[in-house]
Amino acid sequence: MPKLCVNVDHIATLRQARRGKEPDPVLGARICERAGCEGIVVHLREDRRHIQERDIYLLKEGVRTKLNLEMSIAQDIVDIALDLRPDFATLVPERREEVTTEGGLDVLKEKERIEKVVERLQEKEIKVSLFIDPELEQIKASKEVGTDFIELHTGRYAHSEGKEQERELKNLVIAKDKAIELGLKVNAGHGLNYQNVSPVAAISGIQELNIGHSIISRAVFVGLEKAVREMKEIITVGSRQ
Ligand code: PXP
Repeated sequence: MPKLCVNVDHIATLRQARRGKEPDPVLGARICERAGCEGIVVHLREDRRHIQERDIYLLKEGVRTKLNLEMSIAQDIVDIALDLRPDFATLVPERREEVTTEGGLDVLKEKERIEKVVERLQEKEIKVSLFIDPELEQIKASKEVGTDFIELHTGRYAHSEGKEQERELKNLVIAKDKAIELGLKVNAGHGLNYQNVSPVAAISGIQELNIGHSIISRAVFVGLEKAVREMKEIITVGSRQ
C-alpha cells in the first residue's frame, strides 16, 4: 500500500493571504502526523508565495515522520537545501508565473545541471527524487543522473476523464514498471483527490502518494485531522482493489 505524504503548502497560502502568523503549516504538519500521514512535503518556491524559510527549519526540527522538500535547481534554493538537510528532496521545475507545478522536469534537456544537484544533495545524505512526466525517455534520463526516486506526475491522469483517463492510468503503470525495472523507486502525485486517488493507490509498487491541495481544501470543512484520515482510508481501500 502506498504511504500518504501530505503537502502542507496551502496552509501557508492561507497564512500569506494576510502575511500573518496563522494558520501555521508547522502546526498543520503535526496534526497531519497525528492523523497518520507518513511524511510531510513542502515546496519552498523561489517567489516564497506560501512556504517560508522559517517554516522549513521548524519542520526539520518538528517532523517525526520524514520531511520532503520540493525544490527547483536554482543555486540559492540548492544552498538552502544543503544547509537544511531534509530527509528527501524532490526536484521540480519552477516557473514564476505558474499557478502550480505544471509539468515534470525535463531531465533530458537539463541533464548536466540536474546530475550535479543530485550528487551534491546525496553527498549530504539527502535522498533525491525527480518529479517527471510518465514518459520513458525521462525515466531513462532520471536513472542516468543517479537519482534514488522518481515521482510520477499524475496531473494528466487527474485532469482527464473517461477513456482518456484510462489511457493516462495505463501510462502511469507502464512508467512505474519501467522505472522499477531500471532500479528506481517510484512515488506519484499532483492533482490527486478523494474522487480520483483509488486507481492510483491500486498500482502496486508505488511507494508514496504526495497529496496537498485536495486535503487542505477538505480540511476547511471537516478539519485537517479528519481530512487526512479520510484520504488514508480511501488509499487503504483502493490499494486492495
Ligand atoms: N508532488 C509535487 C512534486 C508537487 O509539486 C505537488 C504540488 O506542490 C504535489 C505533489 C501535490 O499536488 P496537489 O497539491 O495537487 O495534491
